[in-house]
Amino acid sequence: MHVATTISEVREHVAAARAAGKRIGFVPTMGFLHEGHLSLIDVARADGAEFIAVSIFVNPKQFGPSEDLSRYPRNEEGDRRLLEGKDVDLLFLPPVEVMYPAGSQTMVTVGGVAKPLEGERRPGHFDGVATVVLKLFNIVQCDVAAFGRKDAQQCAVIERMVRDLDVPVRLIFGETMREADGLAMSSRNSYLTKEERAIAPLLQRALRAGEDALRRGGSVADAERAMRSACSGVEIDYLSVVDPLTFEHPADLRRELLLAGAIRIGRTRLIDNIRIQSPP
Ligand code: PAJ
Repeated sequence: MHVATTISEVREHVAAARAAGKRIGFVPTMGFLHEGHLSLIDVARADGAEFIAVSIFVNPKQFGPSEDLSRYPRNEEGDRRLLEGKDVDLLFLPPVEVMYPAGSQTMVTVGGVAKPLEGERRPGHFDGVATVVLKLFNIVQCDVAAFGRKDAQQCAVIERMVRDLDVPVRLIFGETMREADGLAMSSRNSYLTKEERAIAPLLQRALRAGEDALRRGGSVADAERAMRSACSGVEIDYLSVVDPLTFEHPADLRRELLLAGAIRIGRTRLIDNIRIQSPP
């Protein structure tokens, strides 16, 4: 695995792989890697990627002023070992000055789909995500890039950006990897104390309670009530039933639905979602 810290090194390695006829797959991350991240490497390979690039960059532009940028978990050595074990070809580890040199002043703003839920609770977050992802796409120049459905709205925002800006990258999506008790894997789970970790699976259970309510013929309001009562005792950011394309309340309950939630346990903010494929 080659480890690159500059844009020119990345371009050189990717160009050589492309010249050798390889299809380039890319998995952007913020590191502190877990099985969820690693599963995206498999998703890219299964899709036909023959050269895998992974980036680790804790992107300051997607953190709000009162968020966890300074304490975001890092483990460069451990991450490198995990990526070596997955036969990753190229790891891009850019310093902040490489991604945002002094004087940079352009941001990407995605409209409607970036506004509700996470967009409302984390102002500026998706501008930071869209900007860094577009930059990474321009640096790596991959054929295909893999993202996890755990961050469902992020997937939709990036999909919108790629379409609207004619970005020549095909997007593929991986299912949410979970711990045995249902908790969605996340680098942020490392913030949880033992006691907090024990209650964290309640978010997934709440989403399932919402699904049950819909399957019993309940309304969106019924499902949201069921999710809230399953989360009593913790701070709720949102627990919503939305249309997976717009992230607004669904106009039609017979289409695919997304149940999405964000809660706070102590100082840790957790998000999760489930899709309901068949009409309830
Ligand atoms: P990060 O949170 O490190 O996640 C990197 C990728 O892994 C994202 O596509 C995310 O959806 C996926 N992922 C995280 N947890 C997962 C899980 N349990 N199962 C499956 N996939 C999972 O998301 C980001 O970083 C950043 O916003 C980024 C896209 C890198 C831009 O900075």
